[in-house]
Amino acid sequence: MFGDVELKSTLVFFLSLPVHLFVCFQVLLQVEICEIEGNIFRLKIDEASPLRARYKVRDVLIKEPSTQRLFVSQNEAGILVLSSVNEDYKLKVTANPFQIELQSKGETVLSMNSNGLLYFEHLQPPPSDRYKDLGLWQEKFGSFLDIKAHGPSSVGMDFSLHAYDHVYGIPQHAEGLLLKNTSDGDAYRLYNLDIFGHKIHDKIGIYGSVPLLLAHKPNRTTGIFWLNSSETLVDISTKAVKTLQGRHGLSGSAAETAKQRAVPLTDVRWMSESGIIDVFLLMGPTAFDIFKQFAQLTGTQALPPLFSLGYHQCRWNYEDEQDVKAVDAGFDEHDIPYDVIWLDIEHTDGKRYFTWDKKKFQNPKKMQEHLRKKKRKLVVIIDPHIKVDPMYTLYSQAKDKGYFVKDRNGKDFEGICWPGSSCYLDFTNPEVRKWYADQFAFKTYKGSTNILFVWNDMNEPSVFKGAELTMQKDAVHYNNWEHREVHNLYGFYQQMATAEGLIKRSSGKERPFVLTRSFFAGSQKYGAVWTGDNTADWSYLKISIPMLLTISMAGISFCGADVGGFIGDPEPELLVRWYQAGAYQPFFRGHSNMESKRREPWLFGEKNTQIIREAIRARYVLLPYLYTLFYRAHTAAEPVMRASFSYPCSKLKFCDQRIRTILPWLCFSQIPVFQRGGTVIPLKTTAGKSTEWMIDTSYELHVALDTEACAIGELYIDDGHSFQYLHKKQFLYRKFTFHNNILSSSCRDESGQYQTTCVVERVIVLGFGQQPTFVTACSKGNDLTSILIQYF
Ligand code: GLC
Repeated sequence: MFGDVELKSTLVFFLSLPVHLFVCFQVLLQVEICEIEGNIFRLKIDEASPLRARYKVRDVLIKEPSTQRLFVSQNEAGILVLSSVNEDYKLKVTANPFQIELQSKGETVLSMNSNGLLYFEHLQPPPSDRYKDLGLWQEKFGSFLDIKAHGPSSVGMDFSLHAYDHVYGIPQHAEGLLLKNTSDGDAYRLYNLDIFGHKIHDKIGIYGSVPLLLAHKPNRTTGIFWLNSSETLVDISTKAVKTLQGRHGLSGSAAETAKQRAVPLTDVRWMSESGIIDVFLLMGPTAFDIFKQFAQLTGTQALPPLFSLGYHQCRWNYEDEQDVKAVDAGFDEHDIPYDVIWLDIEHTDGKRYFTWDKKKFQNPKKMQEHLRKKKRKLVVIIDPHIKVDPMYTLYSQAKDKGYFVKDRNGKDFEGICWPGSSCYLDFTNPEVRKWYADQFAFKTYKGSTNILFVWNDMNEPSVFKGAELTMQKDAVHYNNWEHREVHNLYGFYQQMATAEGLIKRSSGKERPFVLTRSFFAGSQKYGAVWTGDNTADWSYLKISIPMLLTISMAGISFCGADVGGFIGDPEPELLVRWYQAGAYQPFFRGHSNMESKRREPWLFGEKNTQIIREAIRARYVLLPYLYTLFYRAHTAAEPVMRASFSYPCSKLKFCDQRIRTILPWLCFSQIPVFQRGGTVIPLKTTAGKSTEWMIDTSYELHVALDTEACAIGELYIDDGHSFQYLHKKQFLYRKFTFHNNILSSSCRDESGQYQTTCVVERVIVLGFGQQPTFVTACSKGNDLTSILIQYF
């Protein structure tokens, strides 16, 4: 199969694969293998000469990755061995049967097609009698008929992860952190759907999809990124296999004499409805390396404006201007900080987005000026469906320009959503995205000001009465691609266009804030996501934590769940506990359904108000740390919320033990928050009414010493809202080190130019062990000054 291989940076060869459809075909596939800088391998399989081009995902990779040269280290008898530049990795490609083994320093980490499940339905001409037996060319789902204009086109492949039995990732499912074996039931599904009141521990896909799976064992983490935006299924099967020690080496020289031992093996099978096989193998070796490798391909978390890390108060709906003002005043009255009040669909004129209900919101600008004076912001909802109404400018313009998704007969696709009959903007078209972005210009979006930000909802897209409540797969998008090809990207593209619109309206100066319900790999570049319509029940509070951890490890750091649970009415204790958990999660918003009772934080008695107040204040005090974590996510792809498996084991054992001893003493008003030994955490000394009220509030450092009495930490500051940190180096990045009983502060990035008058007012050292006799402080060129100390 391989012949004389002359390698450029990508190995290209052809594979003849038997495919069983109506009869057995041989399909010629083009296989490309390359190494990408930074321990990443890419395998691409497409038909060698398809009847028509197959869909390849666009706009998700931030650039075409630069490849590195692989070297041929063996080429004989149908086996080709390629080595990476640094010789750490070897790829063993076997011709018959076709398999690829990826080895790291002699250890097989991963093999592909070792179960022979590589599958590629090649495009064929339609059956001769289309009306008689369409076979796989059409599918019935209830009363819905999906006509596959280009025939069946699914792809699939199996991966064996050697010595791994812990796999994570592939959000979004209402599921625990560790992915389960699917051999006895349904596969995990990645298909963005609006599922109201979704069940927990269900493998059905909800709202968003990131086809990234992480496998972890004590000394290695590996990632598989399956770049495909059609409906995808992931089957997972973990078993123990008896293996000979030494079997994993290329030579296997001592294998005969070695003993047998049982090691785990996890088989992961990916299947997608269409497109090509384009898979990235992220070789880590640490979890943090995987996060970086994924960000190298799909981008890092956008740096959020600081206000968006504060508390958000939402409800379906805040009724009118008076209601907004009253809720806003309620926060001041009860001395609870908050940054943003949200308006749901009822604020519009008949669910026509970009408009206002003129009776309820007579003067939206004045209302925003009121909020601005209070140093607060407004977020409004803007969904992707557009009400069919020739008098509605957005509709008539989009219709005239041909900007809606089409049905299979070439007419504008019409479905039912909040406004009734609606058309759906085709965000996959760059021209539509540009036009949509322009709708956010202040002169176009009447009644909007620069304190108004956006919430994109229902963008799976949700189509009431549609098949599975979404768009028909045979609807047609830009460039004639069927909806089935791009389904999981629809929300990604809407958020992209919205974020661009918000940047544009500020002439490129201000950072946007856009919350989206639907997402895909790379959505982190455009803002925040939330987990959708959860229920006011303890089990949903519990599941929100692994759900957010999973979304975070898939690159989207800015994520949260509706505090209190969207559906139903939480009992006060649940609401309080939810605030306590939400205060430590990246995106922090209270939200509730139309039918739910009002639940502003002060409606549950003084005692509960007090505990909620404390939880929200704790969030505000912690914002310097959170903002610094977001800067790390933005620049170094480190997730803000992290599963403990991301850390080396030894450090955690120490932590775990302490946690176990302390936990039983906690009561209702306390939040079990622990600081890891060896860290310095920057905080503000007190919480203010909102983030903007706290700009001049001084800092406090919490230094938790490790067993060597050392600690390190960082603080990142900038103006909190503009892109000047990027273009004009208007930021300050400090580093704190505690060593030999000296806490020092130094510059973490010399290029930062931002000036602040804010000082560190207080330092709390935890685990110091003995009472210090005196403490002094000094700054460059100044004398030592004595510092007031308290010892507990
Ligand atoms: C969807 C959203 C929910 C929103 C509602 C009305 O159910 O998930 O957050 O309040 O629509 O817009």
